[in-house]
Amino acid sequence: MVCAGLAALARTTGLIGVVAKSPCVRSLIFDFFRDGSARRSIVAGAPPDAHRTLEICRHTKLRIFPERTLNMMPVHTPVAAPENDPVFRVRGLTKIYGEKLAEVRALSGVDLDLYPGELVVLLGASGSGKSTLLNILGGLDSPTTGGLAFRGRELSAVDEGDLTSYRRDVVGFVFQFYNLIPSLTARENVGLITEIARDPMTPEEALGLVGLGERMDHFPAQLSGGEQQRVAIARAIAKRPEVLLCDEPTGALDIKTGITVLEAIQRINRELGTLTAIITHNAAIAAMADRVLSLSDGHIVSEKRNASRAAVAGLEW
Ligand SMILES: Nc1ncnc2c1ncn2[C@@H]1O[C@H](COP(=O)(O)OP(=O)(O)O)[C@@H](O)[C@H]1O
Ligand SMILES: [Mg+2]
Repeated sequence: MVCAGLAALARTTGLIGVVAKSPCVRSLIFDFFRDGSARRSIVAGAPPDAHRTLEICRHTKLRIFPERTLNMMPVHTPVAAPENDPVFRVRGLTKIYGEKLAEVRALSGVDLDLYPGELVVLLGASGSGKSTLLNILGGLDSPTTGGLAFRGRELSAVDEGDLTSYRRDVVGFVFQFYNLIPSLTARENVGLITEIARDPMTPEEALGLVGLGERMDHFPAQLSGGEQQRVAIARAIAKRPEVLLCDEPTGALDIKTGITVLEAIQRINRELGTLTAIITHNAAIAAMADRVLSLSDGHIVSEKRNASRAAVAGLEW
């Protein structure tokens, strides 16, 4: 359980190393990959096999730490691009899960450009392909066919290590469930990420941005759902990601709490200029966006630009 949580955290934050400490095992280091497996272990006095590593982690106290020694090429080489160049250029993107009779066509040819600093809302019924699209944009999943370029670089052509760097350096994820480590305070949960980021803000700064300056030393269990989600947002943005991807960030929250969370996201987008995509099936949220895309059956079926962005505090649903 602890391990599964860490694997999810590792995948979505770009953390690539986990150390387990126990009397018999001094330290273990391994990489998490997109399918959640740990394929490499660089080890001090421990078994080399990843399966065994996971077994041991289940029974030991884990500490996450940054593995800086892996030789990884950064995907994100800053380019002097004009402001109107898209951050993402998606063409003919398809995603098919399963085979033959069990085949599910999650995306059936998506074309999309996303621009710097935009706030985009993705609407669509359950099963329309929203999460699949977001996961592919964030390097958590790969397309079956089609093109996906990030700042002119084709993501489907990069190897696993580059993709890990991409997730770690470029993308912040926020999900419906917060995935906080229960035994760490808000400040420590955010600190996990600021330790491995290249040019992070401090945990205090990040928590201040989401309005939690006063609650930094609280543990997740001492925070409300909305506060926990804001810690997760602080964790996602502390590394100053170029892209913030939110999959139903208010899905588990009531309206009032949901609004505090959306306000935090809107503030990040405005103040840090982070390209932000928010998935929701709640059409009321669309008013806060620059652009609203609707998905149905794996297609983008409509695109609407709002004349102006509504203040989140006035949204109702
Ligand atoms: N890993 C998977 N394996 C098989 N089918 C999947 C997988 N992920 C998603 N799907 C299917 O792809 C379709 C789109 O799913 P998803 O992107 O999660 O939709 P949404 O987020 O809009 O609810 C659904 O039919 C879903 O069941
Ligand atoms: Mg979904």
